[in-house]
Amino acid sequence: MKILIVGSGGREHAITWRLAQDETKHELYCAPGNAGTAALATNIAIGAEDVAAVAAWAEANRPDLVVVGPEVPLCKGLVDALEKIGVKAFGPVAAGARMEGSKRFAKEVMDAAGVPTGRARTFTDAAAAKAALAEYGLPVVIKADGLAAGKGVVVAETTEQAEAAIDDMLVGNKFGAAGAEVLVEEFLHGEECSILALVDGERAVLLPSSQDHKRVFDGDKGPNTGGMGAYSPAPVVTDAMLPEIKEKIILPVVRELKKRGITYRGVLYAGLMVTPPGGKMALSGSAVNVVEFNARFGDPETEAVLPRLGGDFATALLHCADGCLSDADVVVKPEAAATVIVASGGYPGSYEKGKEITGLDAAAQVPGAIVFHCGTKASDGKILTSGGRVLSVTGMGPTLRAAVDTAYAAVDRIAFDKAFYRKDIAHRAFERG
Ligand code: AMP
Ligand code: GLY
Repeated sequence: MKILIVGSGGREHAITWRLAQDETKHELYCAPGNAGTAALATNIAIGAEDVAAVAAWAEANRPDLVVVGPEVPLCKGLVDALEKIGVKAFGPVAAGARMEGSKRFAKEVMDAAGVPTGRARTFTDAAAAKAALAEYGLPVVIKADGLAAGKGVVVAETTEQAEAAIDDMLVGNKFGAAGAEVLVEEFLHGEECSILALVDGERAVLLPSSQDHKRVFDGDKGPNTGGMGAYSPAPVVTDAMLPEIKEKIILPVVRELKKRGITYRGVLYAGLMVTPPGGKMALSGSAVNVVEFNARFGDPETEAVLPRLGGDFATALLHCADGCLSDADVVVKPEAAATVIVASGGYPGSYEKGKEITGLDAAAQVPGAIVFHCGTKASDGKILTSGGRVLSVTGMGPTLRAAVDTAYAAVDRIAFDKAFYRKDIAHRAFERG
């Protein structure tokens, strides 16, 4: 198959890598890709968010499938544009991507479908939002309605913090139009996990569970990032929970969207909070609640989940696009996977770019290790850093401990000026014993 992958991060490198593992060989293109995808695919110099240019390339080159990685082109209607020219795409149309692009819309859909989630109300007026805080107690969560590159959520421990967040968004315009509406939301207690489901408009198949590490420092300290690591499976999700997650969360959303005239195809990513026995229960009365939906593969979850998939990945993605997905399309390997992000010093704040990376080949030679590129670029035969998250190093192994050890053995061989990474990936799984 001729396949175009849209995006340039570790997620897109992992998608490209997994497609390259299929027994049938594909002709792969990435727009724009990175130094890692260049080894597996032809990188084309088109930005992932340039919907018109991607669609024009697709019209001229007629790929069999376009796989859209990031949320922005999905929300901007890339899949709609591809549908118009008769090119198949893996990813939802813009109306479906609103499950990620508008937190208010996602709540409306969940409420209509009876999906358990934190209770929330939406406001455009700061005084009204502040007046509502008393209903929620503390902590309380303040969220910008729209896309804010992962920065639009404040978990407020005090009323003052909550009021400041409301003022920042509604009065100070901190996130522009994305923060013109805010949600005041019930705080959910417990442990988070990610469930990525392949969806074909009607059916869904869950991929193996995973958990990411959003805070920058060990012990989940410091500011939030795009993700500093991930692992799969996540033992917080028991086998008994999976059918329930599918029947009570994923499928009701797909059906509710269908009722609204939206055929959702692609990944529906549920960020879930699992409340342990004895933990403070959510108002929904359910021990598993949706924190958020994303309309795409997670990053870095994808780098841990996709290496665990057997079978023909291109066929699974194509079956989503064609509306004929079946359980047989997803084969899960027994190995565990752990992914460590190697980042530029200063990230998620400001950082320098253009540092030479050494040890990439040596790292890739560690048995069971895969080095995915996130923010890299090739220049004069060298690989240089070009982003905050630079590399996503995955280890595979018979146990999670072995997978983690493999990932760190590979990370140890990599160096660049001011590189740093978390040393405690998968700690929650190990704390369970
Ligand atoms: P989001 O962008 O919606 O994923 O939110 C970012 C992070 O904020 C989540 O991964 C959670 O750690 C936290 N968060 C968001 N909503 C809630 C909630 N209702 N209760 C507890 N934590 C939350
Ligand atoms: N890892 C979180 C996300 O992809 O949104």
